[in-house]
Order: sequence, then structure tokens, then C-alpha cells
Amino acid sequence: MNNPYDWIDKSLETIHRANWYRSPQTISSLPGAIVTIAGQEVINFASNDYLGLAEDERLKIAAINAIQEFGTGSTGSRLLSGHRQLHRELEQAIASLKQTQDAIVFSSGYLANLGTISAIVGKRDLILSDEYNHSSLKKGAILSGGTVREYPHNNTDILKTILQHHRNDHRRCLIITDSVFSMDGDLCPLLDIIDLAEQFNCMLLVDEAHATGIFGKSGAGTVEHFNCTGKEIIQIGTLSKALGSLGGYVAGSTQLIDFLRNRASTWIYTTALSPADTAAALAAINIVQSEPERRQKLWRNVTYLRELIRDDVLKLEILPSESAIICFTLPNPNTALEMSRRLKKAGIFAPAIRPPTVPTSRIRISLMATHEILHIQKLIEVIQT
Ligand SMILES: Cc1ncc(COP(=O)(O)O)c(C=O)c1O
Repeated sequence: MNNPYDWIDKSLETIHRANWYRSPQTISSLPGAIVTIAGQEVINFASNDYLGLAEDERLKIAAINAIQEFGTGSTGSRLLSGHRQLHRELEQAIASLKQTQDAIVFSSGYLANLGTISAIVGKRDLILSDEYNHSSLKKGAILSGGTVREYPHNNTDILKTILQHHRNDHRRCLIITDSVFSMDGDLCPLLDIIDLAEQFNCMLLVDEAHATGIFGKSGAGTVEHFNCTGKEIIQIGTLSKALGSLGGYVAGSTQLIDFLRNRASTWIYTTALSPADTAAALAAINIVQSEPERRQKLWRNVTYLRELIRDDVLKLEILPSESAIICFTLPNPNTALEMSRRLKKAGIFAPAIRPPTVPTSRIRISLMATHEILHIQKLIEVIQT
């Protein structure tokens, strides 16, 4: 008789043959600009800890104090088992940062996207999704049961054409887009998308995962950066990148948040964010608001790296980027893997991103406020050799 699990081996073989196989590397130090992997100290360009807060003493102390006061686990879902005042304090802090009426925290950004999209869209509705959107937006769209149409990356002309042809066939319409594209580093044309949403009576959901804490004068994200604060946009994000903790959030109107508390299954039927993660994220938001110099240091690093690569010194194609994510393209998965290995040998940790995550292979660099000029110079030196 056939073994019903045989296909897994075959599928793994295919993944290996295509050079798509992935496995995590073990880090044995604190997070930061320098980390230790298998006994080797490497400069870390693989982290989303943009402001260097994951190792900040104040976040650690907030997390430890929360564990002492409230224990390690949240013990159940918030509706069934109750929540802590800390959860509401974090939600109010997010709403205050974003200048929205309210916010709700999920156990991850991924769950925030799945739960929100599937709660506000149904079978009779239309979702328009950028082809480069994060997996959580795409999977949320599928889960909703609505009609999903992808539009070419950042192409608002085609988005408009789709709306002209299909908007009226559906009850509700939701446009979903990353604000900073996580594997490319470019921004969505937010102003044009808002115009189209208004023109065609669509809801708009923007994923600020790689923008919160970084973009905008107060670190609120690209909605603030583009002067759109106060517009009725559903803002989703994560507590796990610039905020150095774990969890996700949705910020929006009182009614939207109230509705999600009653309809978002990935919030209702899952255990609440742990006290430690909640307290660490709350401490991080206070730092984002009170220490703009961290953001400024990050942007100085971004500008410095862009200056170094401006004159095509690397002889590599660089994807258009306006964020702290900068990608060097390589012809295929093999060359990307080789480059990543070569960098690692020389003391640089930068991941090769390959299909199926992205259409073309690349090395993805993400900068942090805690990188020093010397770290960035070393990166360029090693790539050049
Ligand atoms: C654009 C985007 N959205 C959502 C997520 C998911 O967030 P989380 O890691 O909190 O699940 C990520 C990354 O992980 C992301 O890059």
C-alpha cells in the first residue's frame, strides 16, 4: 500500500532541486546590529528591529515587571477569560500614535490581517490587492470568500480600470496594500489609492508593518508621512518590527474596532497577547514618541547607504526603495544563495530572498538605527570584492 505521506519527500526534493530550500540560522546573542551565529560575530542586516528596541533595557524591564505582576500567559481569549488593563493601555497608545479613534491588538500582524479582512469582506464583495502584497494580506483575502483581483505592483491606472469594470458588480469593495513593500522596500502610491477609494466608494486597508515607528514626524507610519492622518483608512501593523515586541494591531474608527471585537475570528478564538509582549510594545511606543533621534539615526544610515551605492559602484541592480529595506537583485536563486554565503563568511548576515517568496532572487538589506557607519562601509566593501 502507498504511504499517504510519501508526497512530502517528493515535494521537499523539488524544493531542494530548485534551490528554494530554507532553514533558520540559530542566533546565540541578544538581538542587535551585531549578533552571534554559530560562534561567529556578524553584522546583522537581516533584522526588522529597525530602531534597535528589541534589546532596549526599558522594554526588557517592562516585560519582566509585567510577568511579575500578571504572570507569563494570558490564560485565554479576551472575551472569555478577561484581559488586563495593560491590553487596553497598549490599544489606546496605538490609537494615540496613529490619531485614530481606537485600536485593537492581535497576537501577530499576520493574524490581524487574516482576521480583519475576513471579517469585513464576504462572498458578495470585491478585494483589489497589489500583486506584491504580504502573504497575510493575500491569505486574508482568500479566507474572506470575496472575489479577489490582483493589480500589477503599484499600478493605479490598472487599479482604476478594474474598478471601472467591476466595482458595480459587488456590494462592498476593499483595496488592500502594503505601505512599505517588505521584500522590495518601495512605497505604495498612497495618495492616488486614497483618491480611487473615495471615487469608487471602497474601503482601504494599508499594512504599515514596515512603516510604524519609522515614517512620519511622530513615527505613526506612511499615513502620517503622506499627510493623511485622520482619513478613514484601516491601518494594520505589527508590534514585532520597529516596536521590538510581538503582536499585531488594527487602528481605525470606534465602530470598526468594536465590529472586529465581535467578528474577527483570529482575535475572538485565540489567547490574548502575553503580558510581557504587551508591556514591551507599550514601552516601545513611548520611546517612539519621545525619542525621534532614533528615527533620525535610522534615516541617516539609509541616506548613507544610498549615497554609497548611488554611482552603481556595486555593478548590481538595486530595486527602487524609499525605506530602510534595500535589495540587490541577482540572476537566480543559486547566485543569491552564493552571495549570502560569501557575505556571511566575511562577517555580514544578509538573507537571500528567493522564489516563491518573490518573483526574482535578491539579497535583502534592512538597516537599523543602531548600525554604525563602519558596519555599512564593511557591507559595501564585502559586496564589492
Ligand atoms: C507587510 C507585513 N505584514 C504583516 C506581517 C506579519 O507580521 P507579524 O510578524 O507580526 O505576524 C509582516 C511580517 O512579518 C509583514 O512584512
